Amino acid sequence: MAERQYAIVVFGATGFTGKRIAQEIVKSKFKGSWAIAGRSRSRLDPLAASLEGLADGTAKAPGVVIADSADEASLERMARSARVVISAVGPFRLHGEPVVRACIAGGADYLDVSGEPDFIERVELEMGEAAREAGVYVCSAVGFDSVPGDVGTQHAAALFKSPARCTQVETFISIRPGPSGLHFNAATYESAVLGVGHALELARLRRRIRAERPPPPMPVPGPRLKRRTAPYFDPRVRGWAVPFLGADASVVRRTWSALARAGEPTAHTAVYLVLPSRWYLALYFVYIAVFGFLAQWSWGRSLLLRFPSLFSHGLFSRQGPTEQQMRETRFCFTHIAAGYSRGEPRAPGQDPDLIHTVDVIGPEPAYKACAMFVVQGAVTLLEERGKLKAEPGVHTPGYLFRDTKYVQRLEARGIEFQRVHHVPE
Ligand SMILES: NC(=O)c1ccc[n+]([C@@H]2O[C@H](COP(=O)([O-])OP(=O)(O)OC[C@H]3O[C@@H](n4cnc5c(N)ncnc54)[C@H](OP(=O)(O)O)[C@@H]3O)[C@@H](O)[C@H]2O)c1
Repeated sequence: MAERQYAIVVFGATGFTGKRIAQEIVKSKFKGSWAIAGRSRSRLDPLAASLEGLADGTAKAPGVVIADSADEASLERMARSARVVISAVGPFRLHGEPVVRACIAGGADYLDVSGEPDFIERVELEMGEAAREAGVYVCSAVGFDSVPGDVGTQHAAALFKSPARCTQVETFISIRPGPSGLHFNAATYESAVLGVGHALELARLRRRIRAERPPPPMPVPGPRLKRRTAPYFDPRVRGWAVPFLGADASVVRRTWSALARAGEPTAHTAVYLVLPSRWYLALYFVYIAVFGFLAQWSWGRSLLLRFPSLFSHGLFSRQGPTEQQMRETRFCFTHIAAGYSRGEPRAPGQDPDLIHTVDVIGPEPAYKACAMFVVQGAVTLLEERGKLKAEPGVHTPGYLFRDTKYVQRLEARGIEFQRVHHVPE
């Protein structure tokens, strides 16, 4: 890649998430040149000064780039100044596509923290070819959506050494707040309101994807993994499991499907959210029912967007979480991967005879861990671009970062990938 002014540009750096991404660049002692980008110099300049104050002399002070997602020329100028653009400007269904287009045109690799399947899958369908031809890597969901789910699944599956083979992975997501409670910034809630409100568009998009890019055959030996649709108590994670409604399941499935296209083995997967008690389970269903109903109508969406705190039981607000709430919160993804020690069942219908369990554990997920995931993604692209197994194009994190030092880099920042040797029955 030609010499560029910046190794990394963080677009949307003035936002709640973008600011943590910029701070993480400093805290991780990134040695390259980098910049913060956004539409307002008056907000960017003080941020650049505060980041300089945070540095202990090892990280370089960031440059400042002015770019607006509604101004294509400014986006292309930003892309031409960078080797990797990280975008935290959401909702991505409203702001994301011009940024990806500009990166493809400007020859910059692109990472984002989107958790919006409609945006992510549209980009793959409509821009995959252009990214491939331009020699650019594009990867969405390099945040809490969906790195611990997707990269964690691949990490657990990779524990099966030939002739053993992983055939199914169940993922259980737990978020553990501290005494001051769990809290998120309203922007994530806004993305969810728009996503649920336009669910029919996603169904139409997926029909188009199946027609234009039929899924590859994905033969998996042994019985199919049973995906639970009703809540149930799972003793292995000591909690109530419900199907997870976020982007992870679709991202993980896209990784398996990309592996199948590349002629590599695939597996069945299921992703669940773990709730600690019947009380939280009941609360969850009440709020999901109200949210799901209101998000169908434009008046309902306006209501949801006006009162994020009311309609989320205080989980989301425009102030976002406090530093203390973020300090106290942790997450854990438990991946229970099952398969066959000899690669396939000894008799038809035989259940898996080998299990590997991996816990991916880390700090507050949506901002602290999210920033680590995407910053180390950018570092991996900068340092291992020439060695990636994936060709340029649009990819999932699990596919793009396989066989790289991405997991080791995350471990060095405090994300644990712990092998659990005993699964309690
Ligand atoms: N996957 C994950 O783990 C994860 C975690 C957290 C957040 N997210 C996603 O990240 C996105 C941002 O969340 P947030 O909480 O950081 O939101 P936020 O605080 O509202 O920040 C939004 C950012 O976008 C910028 N922006 C808005 N319109 C723009 C435009 N036309 N041109 C350029 N910049 C523009 C804002 O700039 P101004 O300062 O100029 O307004 C701000 O920097 C959301 O979509 C959220 O769902 C994902």
